[in-house]
Amino acid sequence: MELTTPICEKMGIRYPIFGLAHSIDVMVALAKAGGYPVFGAARSTPEEIVAEARIMQEQMEGRPFGIDLMLPASVGEETDREKIVDSLPQEHKDFVAGLAKKYHVPKATKPTFFSSQTRSQQLFEEQMAATLESGAHSFASAVGMPPEMIGRAKEHGKMTISLVGAPRHAAKARDAGVDLIVAQGYDAGGHTGPIGTFSLVPQIVDAAGDIPVLAAGGVGHGRHIAASLALGAQGVWLGTAWLTSKEHALSDALTQKLLKATSLDTEISYSHSGKPCRLIKTAWSEEWNKEDAPTPLPMPYQQVLTADIIAGINEHEIEPLIYDAAGQSIAWFNELMTVDEIMTRLVTETNQSLENIARLTSG
Ligand SMILES: Cc1cc2nc3c(=O)[nH]c(=O)nc-3n(C[C@H](O)[C@H](O)[C@H](O)COP(=O)(O)O)c2cc1C
Repeated sequence: MELTTPICEKMGIRYPIFGLAHSIDVMVALAKAGGYPVFGAARSTPEEIVAEARIMQEQMEGRPFGIDLMLPASVGEETDREKIVDSLPQEHKDFVAGLAKKYHVPKATKPTFFSSQTRSQQLFEEQMAATLESGAHSFASAVGMPPEMIGRAKEHGKMTISLVGAPRHAAKARDAGVDLIVAQGYDAGGHTGPIGTFSLVPQIVDAAGDIPVLAAGGVGHGRHIAASLALGAQGVWLGTAWLTSKEHALSDALTQKLLKATSLDTEISYSHSGKPCRLIKTAWSEEWNKEDAPTPLPMPYQQVLTADIIAGINEHEIEPLIYDAAGQSIAWFNELMTVDEIMTRLVTETNQSLENIARLTSG
């Protein structure tokens, strides 16, 4: 049985499985395995987006890929990082300095996106311009979806994709004219809303009208994909699945944590970005949960506050603190596999599940 739905023809792919990652190697492997890759470029400078898109275009040999940006309207105009650092509350700076001391976090030797940039409307505009001029086949947006950006992407010939976590957002996306809606539920890794995937997807399908919907959040097995189709989605969108792929090549300390994790080992925390974000549970999230910890700052200030210590944690692999976004589907990713092996597993399981359902209901 060939696992296909109308979205495959619409997007030019073999399987209705979409994947978001911040790794070019994952994107290329996913395209070659028959899925639809969407590169998370929210942590890339405009210059990096241009270069990354070019590499993907070359290595994917004509297969389609998307670029995803985060464009929250709540982020302001200030671009002077030093000025923002000076304005951060001393209590928060002391707390972060205390963590660095307690866990012996050395300074990073290399700058990172967050230690050299600050999210601002100007940066978003430049990231968007780089995305529109790139060879990406689609533009996806999450955490903010200014309707004029959707219009501009369409004018540049891009397919448009919007990630939503509530029915009213689906209506907004539909009115803005998006081509594809991703219904992303509470189970998901990354920034997420409070509605569980099982409750959310059919509501979004109903609100979306003729626009195809993908289910996201908690998809780790083919049974989830079969269930997503039953809920009215035309496919699925996964993020956590790729973190333990060989191509992602995260640090050993982080990979081991992810491989061992169960669905109980993730939690929603504001400590990453100032917005609710599902992360793998670590001493990082636990320290911010403590009663005497300060309340995380709103986006973009939390990431300005924590950029240096996070850079140090990642570069020096500080085991207790190292973390990434991850969803409850982490329970299904317990061994290092290639992206192609993950795709083959998901497709095989989905076909088995659909056959089981047919047998179960055939009387
Ligand atoms: C490590 C990680 C980083 C993510 N970064 C982004 C991002 O930059 N933009 C975005 O739209 N979604 C991001 N997401 C969310 C995914 O797009 C997707 O909706 C989610 O992972 C689906 O749920 P799952 O994690 O259960 O597969 C991220 C998810 C993870 C796990």
